[in-house]
Amino acid sequence: MRGAQRFSVGSLWLCGFFFLEFASGDMSKTIEDLKREAGEAAAAYVVSGMVVGLGTGSTAVHAVRAIGRMLQNGRLHNIVGIPTSEETRREAERLGIPLTNFDENPTIDITIDGMDEIDPEFNLIKGLGAALLREKIVATASKQMIVVGDDRKLVDKLGTRAPVPVEVIPFARQPVAAYLKSLGSRPVLRLERETGQPVITDENNIILDCWFDGGLDNPVAMGQAIRSQPGVVEHGLFFNLATRAVVAAPAGIQILER
Ligand code: 5RP
Repeated sequence: MRGAQRFSVGSLWLCGFFFLEFASGDMSKTIEDLKREAGEAAAAYVVSGMVVGLGTGSTAVHAVRAIGRMLQNGRLHNIVGIPTSEETRREAERLGIPLTNFDENPTIDITIDGMDEIDPEFNLIKGLGAALLREKIVATASKQMIVVGDDRKLVDKLGTRAPVPVEVIPFARQPVAAYLKSLGSRPVLRLERETGQPVITDENNIILDCWFDGGLDNPVAMGQAIRSQPGVVEHGLFFNLATRAVVAAPAGIQILER
């Protein structure tokens, strides 16, 4: 059964690449156009009455804004959201999206979130927006997770274009960095572009971005190894969480299903 599932996802993947290469689309679209198209297409999966996980990042924000507009114009009602970051909380409040929490709603109907990489088995790298911890908690509590992005995020192998972000307790920075090196990665402390100071997450931790030359041959085993080190809070490898991917390319939108 699992093999059959893998095959079907792989086939879609090949079709996707074929489609992108040969369909004649609007090549004048910017990356920002593609992000907006992906986010808005994913928002169409939200129906009235749902508890919605609100993702973080420059693509997911378009889904959040589309949900806000649909609430305002009456196409959606009775929606409550759980934001995956303080940044998204502020945006949802600005848009008038009612918010909830896990005490009131332990189960989320649908989450729409961004991605940094997705492989043919729907494994993800997330966290370049520093929200990976809350994002993984929200995704794990969700019946469905739709990931959104432009076609640059499709990879054959995780770790080939993005690092694996690892959220770490500040006290443990040195021993965790040494451990991550021993696993074959190059960990880099993430810094704020403007100030040069370490990025501090919503849970007051730091992030070590781990680069793997040639990508990850066995992401599941690497995820387990990373998690086993004291001081590691979470990593940005997401397995068995995404159920659908909405991918925007100049040639059009692809919907990939696991
Ligand atoms: C934040 C994330 C983002 O969803 C991911 O980095 C994609 O962001 P963007 O759509 O801006 O490329 O995981 O922690």
